[in-house]
Amino acid sequence: MRNDLKEILLTEEEIQEICERLGRVLTEDYKDKNLFCVGILKGSILFMTDLIKRIDTPLAIDFMDVSSYHGGTESTGEVQILKDLGSSIENKDVLIIEDILETGTTLKSITELLQSRRVNSLEIVTLLDKPNRRKADIQAKYVGKVIPDEFVVGYGLDYKEEYRNLPYIGTLKPEIYTK
Ligand code: IMP
Ligand code: MG
Repeated sequence: MRNDLKEILLTEEEIQEICERLGRVLTEDYKDKNLFCVGILKGSILFMTDLIKRIDTPLAIDFMDVSSYHGGTESTGEVQILKDLGSSIENKDVLIIEDILETGTTLKSITELLQSRRVNSLEIVTLLDKPNRRKADIQAKYVGKVIPDEFVVGYGLDYKEEYRNLPYIGTLKPEIYTK
């Protein structure tokens, strides 16, 4: 473990177990549907690659890039669309794939935007959920793990663009982000 981490919250094995479990549920729920997975860049890419391998039904993927954080550890409440989807999602069963749901500001704006495109259904799968931090009225139907209110990094999640490549998820020592 890197010495700027306080502790490991999810090991590689635990993450894979979560992907297997969610993959089984999603395979069942979407087997007769028109599944279209939307990964939210950049944090969700590792989770998305592992999760979709476990979904055993036809699906399409695309990405959106939004920014709500400006390099720090607190959400600013503003969401900017940096990259939109490349194709139509009309009549699709859209599944948003996110790394972590915190205040909900990001996903609230994204879901409102995508709902307006006449989708057949719209659900969210998030690897991590910090419900104690929620400000917007939003929930994920599929959750990997509920975690306490601590800043986490690894497996796609960053602090100032660092740590995304860690194969596990850990909490950052507070002195790293308070200095
Ligand atoms: P929300 O809009 O507050 O729900 O924030 C969601 C986004 O904030 C996530 O997609 C992450 O990019 C980022 N974020 C929230 N909490 C953390 C964290 O603990 N570590 C790293 N990024 C986080
Ligand atoms: Mg993100």
